[in-house]
Amino acid sequence: MQVIKTKNQLSLILTEERSKGCNIGLVPTMGALHQGHISLIERCVQENDICVCSLFVNPSQFNDKNDLIKYPRQPEKDAQLLREAGCSILFMPDEQEMYPEQDTRVFNFGQLEEVMEGVYRKGHFNGVAQIVSKLFDIVQPNKAYFGQKDFQQLAVVRKMVEQLSMGIEIISCPIVREKSGLAMSSRNALLTLEQKEKAALISKYLIESFTFVSTKTPAEVTGFVKKSINAEPMLRLEYFEIVDGTTLQGIHDWTDASCVVGCIAVYCGSVRLIDNIVYKNAD
Ligand code: PAJ
Repeated sequence: MQVIKTKNQLSLILTEERSKGCNIGLVPTMGALHQGHISLIERCVQENDICVCSLFVNPSQFNDKNDLIKYPRQPEKDAQLLREAGCSILFMPDEQEMYPEQDTRVFNFGQLEEVMEGVYRKGHFNGVAQIVSKLFDIVQPNKAYFGQKDFQQLAVVRKMVEQLSMGIEIISCPIVREKSGLAMSSRNALLTLEQKEKAALISKYLIESFTFVSTKTPAEVTGFVKKSINAEPMLRLEYFEIVDGTTLQGIHDWTDASCVVGCIAVYCGSVRLIDNIVYKNAD
């Protein structure tokens, strides 16, 4: 695996590979890698000649500076995990390399960013779009891999690719969970053992809520999840919404959309966790 720190060097290598007819896959990450990230890498390795993983903790997507400071970092361990997973290139730029000057671009994703994460993390998706568009521009991948854990992020990235006619295939990958059901996240490293146990209740209630789909309305299922989380003193619900998986707008009836997803954000101590469950899928 090659470890590259500059855009120019990465472009040079990839131009050469492309001229040989190689397909390029990209997995953007912020590091502190776990099996969720690795599942994306493995799929990328399988489906492309070259797998590029970017590791960059992107300041412009953090609306909470404290969250940025305490974000876990373990670059050496990450490099080892990527080597073992068969990644070809690790791109690990510093801030100056990605933002030689302030990125003042403002994206508009309409109603996709007016709900859920867009409401509670102002500017977050604009920051995500800034960095992902830069990475797409440098790497020019055939395919880019994103996890369904960040359901809204996937929708926003798909929209950006469409708006800017980038011609990149976005591949969505299933959520990887701990044995307890807790969705894997770099932020889980910040939880105490006791908090981790309680955080597992988030997925437990989501999975339980799935069993009510045939007998309860979306509003009733929403009520069940909210009540269950609110009854846990160590968890603080920020939102739970049952939405159309394409438009991310709330639904009243299960038949309102062909894909229906329940998205949740919960604080466990000072750690913010997100998860989701697909109640109904288009395919
Ligand atoms: P990060 O949180 O490091 O996640 C990198 C990718 O891994 C994202 O596509 C995310 O959805 C996926 N992922 C995280 N946990 C997962 C899990 N448990 N199962 C499956 N996939 C999982 O998301 C970001 O970084 C950033 O916003 C980024 C896109 C890199 C832009 O900075």
